[in-house]
Amino acid sequence: MIAQQKRLPVRTRIIISLCVVLVSSTIHAEPNARLGKSIYKKANCVGCHKWHGGGGGSYGGLALSLRVTPLSREALILVVRCGRPGTNMPYHVRQIYKGADRECYGSNSASLGDATPPRARYFLRDRDIEAVVDYVRNNIQGRGAPNYGDCVAFWGEEATRCKHMAQSKLNGERKRK
Ligand code: HEC
Repeated sequence: MIAQQKRLPVRTRIIISLCVVLVSSTIHAEPNARLGKSIYKKANCVGCHKWHGGGGGSYGGLALSLRVTPLSREALILVVRCGRPGTNMPYHVRQIYKGADRECYGSNSASLGDATPPRARYFLRDRDIEAVVDYVRNNIQGRGAPNYGDCVAFWGEEATRCKHMAQSKLNGERKRK
């Protein structure tokens, strides 16, 4: 009887904590998507990879397309953390490459020399890096050519820069008829 009385609260506590985990993970999903998009803008991924992630010519050289990148989540996180040696893809973690214990790809600035990637304008915390990578994975990677819907999702309904996409979509439809 005593044993039963003791067991019940334990089970109840487990159930309650499971509920808390479930509820808080659904609450966190949405703010994380918003965080990812704001990091994409703030950390200036948009400056080199463009709003649509298609990349191309930029002030940072030829940025690869995040729409067609085959990289896994882990590989994407690594590239954002460490940048890419020998290219203008910047690293985003403070002090990385600065010493033996701060290596990326098994190298540091002493061994890489001029090939050390540039440092980003904004450094990111691990949580920010995961958020921006998940934003890329959910909205950009594997999405095909960017369309009017993507443009509005990024810039908002009122954005004048999306209007030409709506127009060319209409023209395309008219031509096909
Ligand atoms: C200064 C310009 C610049 C900025 C800012 C920048 N990138 Fe890049 N990025 C590049 C360039 C250039 C490459 C191509 C590197 C190469 O040739 O391998 C690249 C490559 C990548 C790749 C590798 C793609 C592949 O398929 O190998 C990923 C992923 C990436 N960038 C994500 C990001 C994210 C996310 C951000 C923002 C946090 C960002 N980049 C900010 C210039 C930039």
